[in-house]
Amino acid sequence: MAPLNGSRLTTIGLVLFVLIIGTANANLSTYFYSSSCPQLFSTVKSTMQSAISKEARIGASILRLFFHDCFVNGCDGSILLDDTATFTGEQHALQNNNSARGFEVIDTIKSAVESVCPGVVSCADILAIAAADSVTILGGPTWNVKLGRRDATTANQSAAATSIPRSDSDLKVLAKMFSNNGLSIKDLVALSGGHTIGQARCITFRTRIYTETNIYTSFASIRQSNCPNVTGTGDNNLAPLDLQTPISFDNDYFKNLVQKKGLLHSDQQLFNGGSADSIVSGYSTNPKSFFSDFATAMIKMGDIKPLTGSNGEIRKNCGKIN
Ligand code: HEM
Ligand SMILES: *[C@@H]1O[C@H](CO)[C@@H](O)[C@H](O)[C@H]1NC(C)=O
Ligand SMILES: *[C@@H]1O[C@H](CO)[C@@H](O)[C@H](O)[C@H]1NC(C)=O
Ligand SMILES: *[C@@H]1O[C@H](CO)[C@@H](O)[C@H](O)[C@H]1NC(C)=O
Ligand SMILES: *[C@@H]1O[C@H](CO)[C@@H](O)[C@H](O)[C@H]1NC(C)=O
Repeated sequence: MAPLNGSRLTTIGLVLFVLIIGTANANLSTYFYSSSCPQLFSTVKSTMQSAISKEARIGASILRLFFHDCFVNGCDGSILLDDTATFTGEQHALQNNNSARGFEVIDTIKSAVESVCPGVVSCADILAIAAADSVTILGGPTWNVKLGRRDATTANQSAAATSIPRSDSDLKVLAKMFSNNGLSIKDLVALSGGHTIGQARCITFRTRIYTETNIYTSFASIRQSNCPNVTGTGDNNLAPLDLQTPISFDNDYFKNLVQKKGLLHSDQQLFNGGSADSIVSGYSTNPKSFFSDFATAMIKMGDIKPLTGSNGEIRKNCGKIN
């Protein structure tokens, strides 16, 4: 082996430097905007509060936007980008098309934040805080949101189509998609508890309510009454993901699964004789453990591949790059 010469040492030094800086930059922090934007949390919260008081479902929609942002190349605000001449965005990927909503609320929050601290806070961070506020306002847990993400300068529709789980996914696929993002089966089950709020379209649960057997019969009948067994008929008719309390964040979702009243195929996969069953049963009787695991998993999800340091940008307008 050749002795280390000066230029080799310089290269090693440079690699180490990049590694160390890269790692240091990769850490998000609760205090990221403490001095640059002390009004951030209160500004986001008051806007979310008024949006939810106008329409409670919007809290669910914002929570889902954050999930769909993080699963496609990390939590980088890419889902917020509209299509451009140079790239096709994520909003019209199958999993988002005609169902992702809440973009105008994020725009409203962004304007409010820009008016108190212009050019400082990323859209990716605004989405992370807005999602957490939604959960808290609807009765769920509170956690300290880590910040310091920067915004993507591109988006990728095909990445969205392949990275976001679908309602027809089996447990194995769900587990794989979560593990691709460093999330465990426990994280998968806890985060799926996000379906304690919000609505789904008939097109996403038609096959389940008409053809599956691991479903409570009278529950299937009720859902069938507003979701005809004809492709293209009533596709957009809505049903609550949690049949009891779709605007309150609680553990009813898990109680439903134990009774075979999961609305989506993917929901019932979590309680279908497989490895996730015991976690679901646990949450169905212990709301505290669900809340605590949900908060932990949201923080983990929020850590997926953030752009930090000088990567990305702080977008001025969440819908387009600067
Ligand atoms: C485990 C895999 C998941 C699958 C397959 C899945 C699938 C879906 C589907 C199909 C819908 C209805 C969309 C439509 O009407 O087209 C939906 C809604 C929703 N999802 Fe998920 N989801 C998953 C995980 C999550 C996670 C991790 C969260 C958040 C932590 C979440 C939060 C929501 C919320 C809040 C809604 C309702 C949105 C609204 O009412 O606007 N989901 N999901
Ligand atoms: C980043 O987080 C890692 C792991 O938690 C920690 O060891 C490291 O010291 C942190 N770096 C910075 C710059 O805070
Ligand atoms: C999205 O939905 C619209 C309206 O249903 C449809 O015309 C369009 O083809 C869909 N886009 C994609 C990319 O599937
Ligand atoms: C978009 O995502 C797809 C699927 O992950 C990937 O194959 C492709 O290279 C990506 N395109 C760009 C421009 O990054
Ligand atoms: C609903 O439609 C599917 C597919 O066409 C069919 O297999 C199923 O038997 C139908 N179920 C009912 C209850 O009509």
